[in-house]
Amino acid sequence: MLHNLVLLGLAISATAAPAFNPTDLGKQCRNIVIPVTVTVPRYVVTSDIVDNWDVTSLVFNLTRRDAGYPTDPLPVEDALTEPRQSTYEISAKFCGNSSSVLVLTHGIIESHKYWQPDFPGGSEYNFVEAALAAGYSVLNYDRLGVGASSTASSFEDAQFQVQTAVLDSLVDYAHERLHANKVALVGHSYGAYLTAAAASQKSVDAIALTGFSGNLSFFGPFLAGAGLHVANTLDPVRWGHLDNGYLMSSDVYATSYIYFAEPHFDHDIARWTHHVEAEPFAIGELPSLLRTEIQYSDIQAPVLVLQGQYDLSACGGNCVGVLDNIRDLFPNAKTVEYVDNLPAGHNLNLHHGAIDAFNTIFTFLQEEGL
Ligand SMILES: *[C@@H]1O[C@H](CO)[C@@H](O)[C@H](O)[C@H]1NC(C)=O
Ligand SMILES: *[C@@H]1O[C@H](CO)[C@@H](O)[C@H](O)[C@H]1NC(C)=O
Ligand SMILES: *[C@@H]1O[C@H](CO)[C@@H](O)[C@H](O)[C@H]1NC(C)=O
Repeated sequence: MLHNLVLLGLAISATAAPAFNPTDLGKQCRNIVIPVTVTVPRYVVTSDIVDNWDVTSLVFNLTRRDAGYPTDPLPVEDALTEPRQSTYEISAKFCGNSSSVLVLTHGIIESHKYWQPDFPGGSEYNFVEAALAAGYSVLNYDRLGVGASSTASSFEDAQFQVQTAVLDSLVDYAHERLHANKVALVGHSYGAYLTAAAASQKSVDAIALTGFSGNLSFFGPFLAGAGLHVANTLDPVRWGHLDNGYLMSSDVYATSYIYFAEPHFDHDIARWTHHVEAEPFAIGELPSLLRTEIQYSDIQAPVLVLQGQYDLSACGGNCVGVLDNIRDLFPNAKTVEYVDNLPAGHNLNLHHGAIDAFNTIFTFLQEEGL
């Protein structure tokens, strides 16, 4: 099945390749600002982050052998607050005019540019262009607290269940305002967990999860290796407006360690990733994910899990074997397909074989009627 998927994907790429001109496809995008009101409970974060000593201490606590156990509890209070209402503005690009809409959710230390690189000659890494050429429309947004979307408190707003509620709203928006007939969610990393959580709450037509294994036990090397610093100390011009709980990897080599695998990428693309594409994430995002029990068994949509073999945070650096029981995670999904051995690290889209990964996703969606 895996081989069939990949071969089909290659066949499609061979026929679709001449059909698109990147410049024309760029013109099919418009920038939109989507107001979103959510009413969800919050976790109360108990760590205070004032400076980089606190970040170092937080990372130590989160990567301790007994992290998450009573001897070293997660830095959040046990009880959630009452539901709290907030309105945010989500910045997005909407591209294409198809009634099959893909909603793309990026990960942490990432931005919407993960799906839509803006460096010259970046077409082979551009998921959005490939999706347009394959006949889809795309809603590509910056998550809450990232890029041009609303700035939000890293402690109170940028939490997993809040980001999930935002994605739920974007599914409604796609149906109501973008005239989508079918909606598929495509997520990467933290965005894949958000995608799964949204699909457990909302009816969607398919989901594709990348940088995801469903197993959170490999987060340690990722957190430790990122060399996290308070973002506003790293780049006050770019991130001075963010509170001290926004964290960012400290240099291009740290970013490369967590997101890339030799020899399957270009160093210039890792540099672009670190200096342009990557954006800080909020301290509230990790403990709220670790505390949330995603209701995977409520997901009925078809599921594709697509992995670079050398993914650090999802698989501890080698996915082969880690996904063998992934079907059990989605007992009520219409279908579950997985690929665990693409020649890439965590940032699948930015490795040499990206176009094959894209085509595998489109082939899967076509098989599921999108
Ligand atoms: C990490 O744990 C230690 C010991 O419990 C605590 O004193 C410290 O405040 C924690 N660090 C952060 C940033 O929460
Ligand atoms: C959608 O876009 C394509 C490519 O630009 C164009 O050929 C087609 O006419 C458009 N369809 C509609 C319904 O606007
Ligand atoms: C996650 O991975 C760890 C380490 O390999 C393993 O012990 C555990 O059983 C896995 N959990 C699930 C739910 O697969």
